[in-house]
Amino acid sequence: MPTDYRPGQDTRDLFDRIAPRYDLLNRLLSFGIDRRWRRAAVRALELSGTGRVLDAATGTGDVALAIAATYSQVEIAGLDLSANMLRGAVPKLTSARERISLVQGSCENLPLTDAIFDGAVIAFGIRNVLRREVALREFFRVLKPGARLVVLEFSQPTRPLLAGLYRWYSRKILPHVGGLLSDSAAYRYLPDSVEVFPARRDFLAMMEKAGFRCPGHQDLTGGIVTLYWGCRPSGML
Ligand SMILES: C[S@@+](CC[C@H](N)C(=O)[O-])C[C@H]1O[C@@H](n2cnc3c(N)ncnc32)[C@H](O)[C@@H]1O
Repeated sequence: MPTDYRPGQDTRDLFDRIAPRYDLLNRLLSFGIDRRWRRAAVRALELSGTGRVLDAATGTGDVALAIAATYSQVEIAGLDLSANMLRGAVPKLTSARERISLVQGSCENLPLTDAIFDGAVIAFGIRNVLRREVALREFFRVLKPGARLVVLEFSQPTRPLLAGLYRWYSRKILPHVGGLLSDSAAYRYLPDSVEVFPARRDFLAMMEKAGFRCPGHQDLTGGIVTLYWGCRPSGML
């Protein structure tokens, strides 16, 4: 794979290739903190406890499973571009099988009806989407009025010391470990894509432009990741 990988072009191939070791590398490279980040995203959905949620770019289903574990009455649609990532989710569904449906498709053109979800979440996915504005408008379209979108994404730590340490870790350690266990080009793409992802306020402005109201954000782990949220206004269909 070329090192000048661009999102949207080779995305499906990349995730199809890294799918078998995706979960293992997530746990190793984040020292297990990734689970805490996903649980924070689930809490930020502020669900009432029933209804339907979209987990966009579900990958191997970790967010969908965290939602199912937190809310025993919620149904989840897990959508992803990569068939191999979805295949990785299947054996993990176990008792949540009845409540989680997996769909192959793109966030840029959701194969879903308007205004059917009580919440939507995308974790570590929006960075890989080429036409982010289109995807945000699609999330808006499928949410019910008053429902929330939550986005969890890597960001640049704000404190210089942590930013420097994180840059060293993501440039030197991450591709090395990724190369040993999976695909080094894919794990070189990760820091590249984080560096070009919009700044926090620019991403919030993009959410507002797509129609979301009351946007907010919260840095986690010193700003290594950021949670963003916004609502489809009530009374709007
Ligand atoms: C880094 S993984 C995140 C998976 C999961 N959300 C998690 O928290 O582990 C990114 C996922 O986004 C998916 N993806 C990228 N672009 C997409 C698009 N346009 N539509 C749907 N899924 C997409 C990839 O196939 C991949 O499974």
